Amino acid sequence: MREIIFADNLQILQSLESGSVPLIYIDPPFNTGRVQSRTQIRTIRSADGDRVVFQGHRYQTTRIATRAFNDTFDDFLAFIEPRLVEAYRVLAPNGSLYFHIDYREVHYCKVLLDSIFGRDCFLNEIIWAYDYGARTNKRWPAKHDNILLYVKNPTNYIFNSEDVDREPYMAPGLVGPEKASRGKLPTDTWWHTIVSPNGKEKTGYPTQKPLGVLRRIVTASSNPGDVVLDFFAGSGTTGAAAAEIGRKFLLVDNNEEALITMAKRFATLHGICFKNFDPSPYSHTIGAQPLLL
Ligand SMILES: C[S@@+](CC[C@H](N)C(=O)[O-])C[C@H]1O[C@@H](n2cnc3c(N)ncnc32)[C@H](O)[C@@H]1O
Repeated sequence: MREIIFADNLQILQSLESGSVPLIYIDPPFNTGRVQSRTQIRTIRSADGDRVVFQGHRYQTTRIATRAFNDTFDDFLAFIEPRLVEAYRVLAPNGSLYFHIDYREVHYCKVLLDSIFGRDCFLNEIIWAYDYGARTNKRWPAKHDNILLYVKNPTNYIFNSEDVDREPYMAPGLVGPEKASRGKLPTDTWWHTIVSPNGKEKTGYPTQKPLGVLRRIVTASSNPGDVVLDFFAGSGTTGAAAAEIGRKFLLVDNNEEALITMAKRFATLHGICFKNFDPSPYSHTIGAQPLLL
């Protein structure tokens, strides 16, 4: 199965069979785009207040706060929860979920995921550290994302540690030449550049994640031939990683721009089934960007 669907992901998740997917990676937008600002006010009785109420009394109104951000985020939790409940249902008994999120939201999402999976099913918080963009000098510049890893069964899950790309030791002199040349198994802190703005991996999709990060996830937590599901697919990085290392994929996105990007990105990959979207105007254009492996 190599399938890309243009649809709202909740509807697609609800149609999938329970226990059928060994690996899910998602990188949701952390707000729904519906900014609701709710202003709280306090009224104090005052002779020259701006409000006149019962019996002619006047009250002065003071704005306490505008809670636009919180409301937006509350929206996000309400949006993501039913999708995570469905993700848990479709996950195979030995399956894993990687949840990619921003450092500001991760703690709320951890509590939500604990309530769905159970705390004992939380395996890791991966810190993806990068080094790009402006640096504030008012606090420590935030240069990382968080990826929470949950498994359905903490005593039976896929983890191919031997197949994962290894990293150089920080102090190779301390471990001897043999170990130093083999490198070390990555820890839960991954140093990896963002997608370079001028590199060949770039698709132009604004929130594209690096193939190297997805390659590591797919290698570790799925077996050859398994299906990898990404229901916030964006530019299709999860599919590109899955195809590269012999996995199947199911990608879902509800933004036409994402579908166009994926049609171009997968133009040279055979056997992809697009649903609710015709990729032909983009797949065969001269100069269509080939699958970047
Ligand atoms: C942060 S981007 C994912 C980027 C992706 N990881 C990549 O490497 O390109 C989040 C994606 O979720 C999609 N999305 C948001 N709400 C959705 C929904 N209800 N159903 C399907 N896709 C949705 C957006 O269109 C966007 O492409």
